[in-house]
Amino acid sequence: MGGNSFGKLFTLTTFGESHGPAIGAVVDGCPAGVPLTIEEIRSELARRRPGGGGTSTTRAEPDDPEILSGVFEGKTLGTPLAVIIRNAGAHSSDYDALKDCYRPGHADWCWEAKYGLRDHRGGGRTSGRETAGRVIGGAVAKAFLALSRISFHAWLQDAEDLVEKSAAVRVKGDSVGGVVVCRVEGLPPGLGEPVFGKLDAAIAGAMLSIGAVKGIEFGAGFAAAGMRGSEHNDAILPAGDMWWRKDLPFGVPAASFADNHSGGVLGGLSNGMPLEFKVAFKPVPSIGREQKTIDRSGNPVPLTVKGRHDVCVCPRALVVVEAMAAIVIADLMLQNRAAHV
Ligand SMILES: Cc1cc2nc3c(=O)[nH]c(=O)nc-3n(C[C@H](O)[C@H](O)[C@H](O)COP(=O)(O)O)c2cc1C
Repeated sequence: MGGNSFGKLFTLTTFGESHGPAIGAVVDGCPAGVPLTIEEIRSELARRRPGGGGTSTTRAEPDDPEILSGVFEGKTLGTPLAVIIRNAGAHSSDYDALKDCYRPGHADWCWEAKYGLRDHRGGGRTSGRETAGRVIGGAVAKAFLALSRISFHAWLQDAEDLVEKSAAVRVKGDSVGGVVVCRVEGLPPGLGEPVFGKLDAAIAGAMLSIGAVKGIEFGAGFAAAGMRGSEHNDAILPAGDMWWRKDLPFGVPAASFADNHSGGVLGGLSNGMPLEFKVAFKPVPSIGREQKTIDRSGNPVPLTVKGRHDVCVCPRALVVVEAMAAIVIADLMLQNRAAHV
């Protein structure tokens, strides 16, 4: 089974290679009647485009989406949404040198070991460009979740530091990694499907499916390992006026929490606090410095990667992190409707 589809009830399939005719997404399972415009999708895609600050590739494409199905008169139809973006601005010849050798830190060698062939132009399917399809899915999921007042916000943990570091290494043909922080607000308590579909497990799987992601932490994260229970436990308090209190079933008392070391998840279920997590991105693998690799015949060769590459993916990945979180939450919101009588 291919690995290009994601989700159970709210599903996303992304398709396309970096230098093929088009990339895009099919989103299925979005309920009918969600207000959705092409502008919402376009403005989310604009956040993924290379920006200033010296961290991004110089491949500047308009990323103009076209909705082929699933929306009528500004509302979702409940049918599959297909959205494509035609690729423009591809300089495939920049990648000729990669046809017969493998980039250190990239997927080239493993991909060929699995499939026996690869589209080397722009990294093919392993390109960061694939994430545009995820952003389309995220725009649809966000529109659905806005009806439940659920919102997503991602930012750079060390923005200034990252811009400075990127500028310093760009001139040396090198790259850097970084950390993206994400907060989801407005989740009702009880979201998540224990035991294998826990909220944190689902979010972690989604984040680790993004290229260059190497780690995720929820709330106190790895620091929790060095804390006492008395420090890490978030005291439970009467809820005050949290908006979802009226929705709690079974007469369960409304509650709030004194702190958020849990990151908003307990037992794999949302606890009504903001869902908070951090995602670690490694340095971009394609770098303009000479590295050691081998060619198709197994001979050692030096490689200096050409083409237009990001120095740090984090600024462009903010909207991708939000998108994957939104798709997971949309899926769990739909699954939650089957949780009890
Ligand atoms: C938004 C985004 C942009 C990216 N841009 C580049 C790039 O310009 N050059 C590159 O080599 N890798 C880039 N990557 C990272 C590769 O896609 C990723 O490192 C590669 O697929 C190998 O997968 P892995 O790092 O998860 O092992 C980007 C990733 C994302 C999410």
